[in-house]
Amino acid sequence: MAQIVRALDKAHDVKNFDCGSEALNVWLCETASQHIQKMLSRTYVLIDEDAPEIILGFYTVAIRAMTPVGDLPAAMQRRLPRDVPGFTLGRLAVSREAQGQGWGEYLLAHAMRRIREAAESVGGTFMFVDAKDAEAAAFYAKYDFSPMPSNPLRLLKPIAEIPA
Ligand SMILES: CC(C)(COP(=O)(O)OP(=O)(O)OC[C@H]1O[C@@H](n2cnc3c(N)ncnc32)[C@H](O)[C@@H]1OP(=O)(O)O)[C@@H](O)C(=O)NCCC(=O)NCCS
Repeated sequence: MAQIVRALDKAHDVKNFDCGSEALNVWLCETASQHIQKMLSRTYVLIDEDAPEIILGFYTVAIRAMTPVGDLPAAMQRRLPRDVPGFTLGRLAVSREAQGQGWGEYLLAHAMRRIREAAESVGGTFMFVDAKDAEAAAFYAKYDFSPMPSNPLRLLKPIAEIPA
């Protein structure tokens, strides 16, 4: 039994994924593939090689619109131009059955590495995450993401702090 991360495709059973958040379930089922087709974002799924259609977890990453430097936490504003580029981890979820076994942390680390690699190719200063509620924000804060001053459910981390 080996778990691997793959790009979402038609072989994956999006209909039966349940992470406990209806909004995230519906997004995976109805929107993720459309976003891939339109190249708006990319979704990656955690699967078991022995049952590769079953989605154990997923994350979605995308480029982010330029962020005005004045919106950043004061300590992160130094020596940057007026607007800074970045990437977003738009969604992250683990199925109910697989929660509490370290897969959320694993997928977050996977997404961080992917974003670090993209930033090394094309530039990108910050990785942003959009937490769906305060509990999810607490999950990201565990991994040293800092809240944006204007919105505590949007958190960020300098990509330079992600190990290469
Ligand atoms: C939040 C979520 C992704 C965590 O995934 P998971 O696989 O259960 O988490 P892990 O087992 O990897 O836990 C890693 C650490 O985060 C902690 N953690 C897990 N869920 C947490 C939460 N909701 N809030 C704060 N900390 C949390 C764990 O206690 C663990 O810490 P420890 O190592 O000190 O014990 C998962 O519970 C989930 O999909 N929830 C529903 C959707 C959601 O809330 N997504 C968040 C993004 S919007």
